[in-house]
Amino acid sequence: MNYRKTDLQHLWHPYTDITKFEKTEFPVIASASGVRLKDTTGKEYLDGISSWWCVNLGHSHPHIVNSVVQQALTLQHSITGGMSHTGIIKLSEMLSAIAPGTLNRVYYASDGASGVEAALRISIQYWWNLGEPEKKNIVSLSGAYHGDTLGTVGLGFLPRFHRPIEHVVNRSLQAAAPHCFHCPFENNCSLQCFSDMEQLLRENAETTAAVIIEPVCQGAAGIRIYPPGYVTLLRKLCTELDVLLILDEIAVGFGRTGEMFASDLAEIQPDLMVTGKSLTGGYLPMSAVITSPEIFESFRPTSLRDTTFYHGHTFSGNPLASAAAIAALEVFKNENVIEQSKTPATLLAGAFREFREFPGVHNSTTLGCMSSLEISQDGGGASTASRIAEMSLQKGLIIRPLGSVVYLWPPLLTSATDMKEMLCIFGDCLKECL
Ligand SMILES: Cc1ncc(COP(=O)(O)O)c(C=O)c1O
Repeated sequence: MNYRKTDLQHLWHPYTDITKFEKTEFPVIASASGVRLKDTTGKEYLDGISSWWCVNLGHSHPHIVNSVVQQALTLQHSITGGMSHTGIIKLSEMLSAIAPGTLNRVYYASDGASGVEAALRISIQYWWNLGEPEKKNIVSLSGAYHGDTLGTVGLGFLPRFHRPIEHVVNRSLQAAAPHCFHCPFENNCSLQCFSDMEQLLRENAETTAAVIIEPVCQGAAGIRIYPPGYVTLLRKLCTELDVLLILDEIAVGFGRTGEMFASDLAEIQPDLMVTGKSLTGGYLPMSAVITSPEIFESFRPTSLRDTTFYHGHTFSGNPLASAAAIAALEVFKNENVIEQSKTPATLLAGAFREFREFPGVHNSTTLGCMSSLEISQDGGGASTASRIAEMSLQKGLIIRPLGSVVYLWPPLLTSATDMKEMLCIFGDCLKECL
């Protein structure tokens, strides 16, 4: 089969300019193992973005693959509405054991955006259940990204992407996000950037159901890493003002920051935590909203009111995805993944400190296994970032620019040798393009 030709006849690719794409020699991936993907010509690519931030444990991990295969031979699907199955019960117990504090009720959705949608609906209905329907608004951060459904787009509205649907999107209130690369307070980090959120919440608490943030790193905004202290302050304020706190850990959960969850770095417990992407090691789509017993109990119907949560998905808690998630959590424990991830994390931090000194680099940052740098306007900004990504792909390293930011987000089990190879290609591309 001529894959390229057939692709161009039949596929519609996400976030892809059709005209530009038709002119590129895009790879057609045929297989993958560890941190490498292989295309139909046999060319190998290092996975510098963990395949859209989800393959935290690398490709083709034998334990996860075997678990999914065994599950497929046993039970591939069974519903969770009004009944249950063995895998999802086991997974829910495992997630409750590692979730922050008292969070111990797990609601499953299909992918990140549908997990966030569920968290929003739980939060809004929670206040309705309590007889406070006026608490119905959501507060988010500027530059937020929580998914691409109509509800989640409202949380992170970006004119450049969303103008055609602006007239139907219900936009949340937004506080100015922390932005350490362009800190208006000259990086004198006494968390003055929190003042905007504080003012907004104090003014709107009576009508606000929940605040949702991407804790410690706003991913799609450009891997904007910010201090955990911001999350700690937000927790305190939400408690004081009676507003629920939703942490969207879809991208940063499961070891990315060097801790299992970003909330561990901030040493707090959110009211709802949304996980996805690497929940299954990135092997199958699944997301989970983990919440507190208090929130769950408010959904118990009474003789006066039906407070049942009428919301669900065909594949909610799918057995194959459950098997992948259980296996991924076993790998985390048995292979001490958090400890192992310190090897690539240390190499990333060292290299990105050096890259910061390159002419044309505005700033760089690293937390755990995520590192980013911004190309200055003098260095060519977004167009240089695009060229770096294109050159890097040619040299066998997959990265994607985010505006004028380029970054690495490798699998947590990347060996020192593979990490050095990624950094070498990345550094060469920077030098050649700047
Ligand atoms: C923080 C965050 N939330 C939600 C999503 C949406 O997840 P999905 O693409 O699985 O719908 C993403 C995706 O990148 C994300 O980074």
